[in-house]
Amino acid sequence: MNIVLGVSGGIAAYKAPDLVRRLQDAGADVRVILTPNAARFVSPLSLATVSGHGVILEQWGDPDKGGVDHIELARWAELLLIAPATANLIAKLAVGIADDALSTYAVAHRAGIVIAPAMNTSMLLHPTVQQNLAVLRARGIDIMEPDEGLLACGDEGAGRMPDPPILVERVQQHFRARDLQGRSILVTAGPTREAIDPVRFISNRSSGKMGYALAEAAQRRGAAVRLVSGPTSLPSPAGVTLTRVTTALEMRDAVLQNLASSQIVIKAAAVADFAPVASSPRKIKKEDGNELTLTFRKNPDILTAIASASPRPFVVAFAAETEALEANAREKLSRKDADLIVANDVGDASIGFDSDQNEVLVIARDGTTTKIERAPKIVIANRILDLVVERLPQ
Ligand code: CTP
Repeated sequence: MNIVLGVSGGIAAYKAPDLVRRLQDAGADVRVILTPNAARFVSPLSLATVSGHGVILEQWGDPDKGGVDHIELARWAELLLIAPATANLIAKLAVGIADDALSTYAVAHRAGIVIAPAMNTSMLLHPTVQQNLAVLRARGIDIMEPDEGLLACGDEGAGRMPDPPILVERVQQHFRARDLQGRSILVTAGPTREAIDPVRFISNRSSGKMGYALAEAAQRRGAAVRLVSGPTSLPSPAGVTLTRVTTALEMRDAVLQNLASSQIVIKAAAVADFAPVASSPRKIKKEDGNELTLTFRKNPDILTAIASASPRPFVVAFAAETEALEANAREKLSRKDADLIVANDVGDASIGFDSDQNEVLVIARDGTTTKIERAPKIVIANRILDLVVERLPQ
């Protein structure tokens, strides 16, 4: 992978040496271009040392050397990653201004481009920035969603540059074969909600992040993806057909409706096992008594219905466990007659529910167990899909 890394002048530029190292670990050769402002945040010497190549800072090539740097570089490059991309750089890319080494290179570059915008939330949401991003998106540039969290200015919100492992994963995505091209995949995600009365419900702590990451990764690998999602606050991944449901019964209906057209089913949803027998049509009042007893009935098991379908899709189940992870997952794999089961320890708050990271055990029908070490959920999603692809019938 021949990567040109463009770094513009935002605080996240300090992550550039780590990013270069991680790209190299993934097999990339990296050449770095810094804008003059980026060079105030990160030292060109560090980047030259880590990358093993001179860092390009000047728009004009070395007069002693001959040749035009940015044209030669564009012949070599297979991908341009700009991280962080500031509002100023995004504006220059949108209109083609070429007034420093990075913006000039971007006009000369012919291969794919990935950009990771990073800035204060109010700048990110400014109409000019959004308009410029829309122009770049329409041009086929891959724009990464900024992370939410504490920003360097002390504000909380969207605008952080995604961490280097997430950037590396996105770069690798551009080099990965579209190995799910022509496959149709149904992914379920998120919790379900079972009504107690018009204002209350019983649910669980699933955020939907793992299922959404799987839907996004499968779509990028060429699959036609339908995502059946319980209530979450996540945006729909681009290019994925989203069906929103609330209850386990609605999820089952949506899954069964789309089963015949799905070759692979990935059941990442945390389906409520029980629902109140009857939900009260009116709000239950405090005055109704000092105690409240609810009676629950078992929800149907969606996976069991899928596994007995004919033709039977390739089925990936999930097991959320707080104890005896592997033993419980193996038992579930055979009980649910799945092809693979992804087991995660939801007792560990640093992974699992609502976390951006995960660490899972994947057990196959033939007993093979693969441990996927702690990583962002999009990385885990691609590793799971690798295991699916290996086992798919041709
Ligand atoms: N699942 C399902 N339908 C249900 C409950 C669960 O399809 N009514 C699926 C989940 O989407 C997941 C797998 O079954 O892929 C395992 O879910 P989990 O809650 O871990 O297992 P349960 O079968 O509910 O067993 P238990 O809660 O007793 O551990």
